[in-house]
Amino acid sequence: MITYYEKERIFKLDTPNSSYLIGIVDEENFIGHIYYGKRLANAEASYLLRIQEPPYVPGRNNRERGAFYDCFPFEYPTGGTGDYRECCLAIRTAGGHAGSMLSYVSHEILGGKPELPGLPATFGTQEECETLRIICEDKYVGMQVELLYTAFSDNDVITRSVKIVNTGKEHFYLTKVYSACLDMDNRDYDMISLHGSWARERHIQRKPLGYGIQNVSSFRGESSHQDHPFLALVDRHTTQEQGEVYAMNFVYSGNFCAQAEVSQFDYVRMSMGIHQENFCWKLEPGEEFQAPEAVMVYTDRGLDAMTSAFHRLYRKHLLRGKYKDLKRPILINNWEATYFDFNTEKILDIAREASKLGIEMLVMDDGWFGNRYFDGCALGDWVVNEEKISGGLAYLVDEINKLGMKFGIWFEPEMVSPDSDLYREHPDWAIAIPNRPGTESRQQYVLDLSRREVLDHVYGMMAAVLRSANVEYVKWDMNRQLSDIGSIALPADRQGELYHRYMLAVYEMQNRLIHDFPDLLLENCSSGGGRFDPGMLYYSPQIWCSDDADAIERLAIQEGTALLYPLSTMGAHVSDCPNHVVGRTTPFDTRAAIALAGTFGYELDVTKIPEEDRAKIPEQVAMYHQYNDLIREGDYYRIASYSQNHMYDCWQVVSEDQRESLVTFVQVLTRANYKSRRILLKGLAENIRYKVHIEKDKLEMEELPVYSGDTLMKAGILVPNMPGDFQARLIHLTAVEG
Ligand code: GLA
Repeated sequence: MITYYEKERIFKLDTPNSSYLIGIVDEENFIGHIYYGKRLANAEASYLLRIQEPPYVPGRNNRERGAFYDCFPFEYPTGGTGDYRECCLAIRTAGGHAGSMLSYVSHEILGGKPELPGLPATFGTQEECETLRIICEDKYVGMQVELLYTAFSDNDVITRSVKIVNTGKEHFYLTKVYSACLDMDNRDYDMISLHGSWARERHIQRKPLGYGIQNVSSFRGESSHQDHPFLALVDRHTTQEQGEVYAMNFVYSGNFCAQAEVSQFDYVRMSMGIHQENFCWKLEPGEEFQAPEAVMVYTDRGLDAMTSAFHRLYRKHLLRGKYKDLKRPILINNWEATYFDFNTEKILDIAREASKLGIEMLVMDDGWFGNRYFDGCALGDWVVNEEKISGGLAYLVDEINKLGMKFGIWFEPEMVSPDSDLYREHPDWAIAIPNRPGTESRQQYVLDLSRREVLDHVYGMMAAVLRSANVEYVKWDMNRQLSDIGSIALPADRQGELYHRYMLAVYEMQNRLIHDFPDLLLENCSSGGGRFDPGMLYYSPQIWCSDDADAIERLAIQEGTALLYPLSTMGAHVSDCPNHVVGRTTPFDTRAAIALAGTFGYELDVTKIPEEDRAKIPEQVAMYHQYNDLIREGDYYRIASYSQNHMYDCWQVVSEDQRESLVTFVQVLTRANYKSRRILLKGLAENIRYKVHIEKDKLEMEELPVYSGDTLMKAGILVPNMPGDFQARLIHLTAVEG
């Protein structure tokens, strides 16, 4: 709910358990951030703006205007006029000057949530959310700024975005546009972020916040393996179960910066937006720029509550399309099975064996097109290689369909290999700096999709393949980051727009794809999990989480990913052993238990794995069918973290009606002469009694122990010490009474 208190000039945005207060002060109508935190009964806290103490407001003490700018908690701070903290908006006028300052002009409160043109964003109906649009201006520049806030009524989430309009007579440049900012007191916060690398994505990092600026960012042209568009400031004593959390997540897949600055007065400014590096957007009179959306979550109930807010928001208000709430077909992907060495017969061999075991879809990965016999050529030549795929694609897909399986295919549409027909014909279609050799990465360049003819051509080739056979799934890959930024279609003073124009083009192309092929299941991927973010989730309900599918490596990767994203979005497969990335051998059951926490599938040559492993697949398929509704739709809780305790990992999902739950426990290294572990369950109903079934403990159903939710949550259960390394147990709870 959003209320405007006219006399006090205060906006109050309420979610079920949080409030957000904005105030307008002084005759110059500065917009200040009053409060974000536990839900307040009223809007009387404007004293937090501290304008009754020196330096007061400029209307009362103009001689210290600079001091006011440098300590006032701005809702949307601008640069160049005396606030020396990191700003959210920086400009350069036609005359080359950088200062700006915003004043409130008007506002409106709308039911529901407007779309952000060309950008991914969360959505909601009039019953589900309300939106506040504050219009402000800098009349010296001739600039109008719209601050957009949406408060959700069933979730502690507030989203923000910003639109800048040139209302003047001359052009100006935006050199920085962030989407959200929080000016607060520092209360000894810790900062939580996700960091990583290829094959090591989204590991959780927590460290104390210190003076100065600390940030996580990417200017790699994608949200990246390395840092993640997420930042949380938490009380030093915050745990999974309790304590304050301020979190921001960016609904964007390109360059970003998320930062916290602790200033001289122990204030903290937390902000998030498109990275400033190589960003410069020209606005001619009448033109506008829409910044992407940032999602903010506040809770005083710890990280579990933050996670639950993000999961619920994304499940209900971000994912779209046919598969949003559907069980996804269990797939087998041939990448680690064959790499580039396959043909129709090999694919059919895998499919025949897989179909007998209950696997539902065959995905043909990289290598089916053009002259693609290795990874150094042919990207851009999206024509079936009939030497490999003898009989053609339609034949192959028909044969697979006859086995009762669906068929999926891999593309990397954003790329071009220097050794490709496409590049030979259109060398200027790659992003490049003129007269400078481009930096190759995996022997490829990035296409300049900001050019209409390039986008149309690539999309046309891709759509032709999809129309030529019954293709029901696409893996959209992106295997290099951007560099050498330059487009021959843009004038010199618009080259700084290319990173963002590129992202808009990728979004447009994916939108076109899911619009033209509404039944298609789209899975995004970027060398594993290099572009796993809410922006991509708006187009594809699942994203390949990491090229590292080793069960133990996946513990930290999936823990970090699930901190924000629903389990239904995490691409997870049972892969070959010894693992192709780390060389580790883990039990087949453990690999399956961990992949069950995601979309589930296989990435191995099912015709070659040991017979005892193959024999287990039908059992695993049955488990997927038994548990996937619960895993996809249930509430997720983190019970223990191997990254922290270095012994075991444990997570739990609970159905919305609290009548069913699944706990996954992974004991990493076994210990000699050790006893069972006690774990406290979460999210159950105190009064319901549950049957507790530990998979592999061969108990008959009637003999299963029955305990109340109260006991299971407060006293916990014992998980036996297991012989052998890398052991997993699934613990299934079903309500019997209450
Ligand atoms: C990326 C993906 C892999 C695979 C290869 C193919 O690395 O993450 O899963 O598709 O590309 O080249």
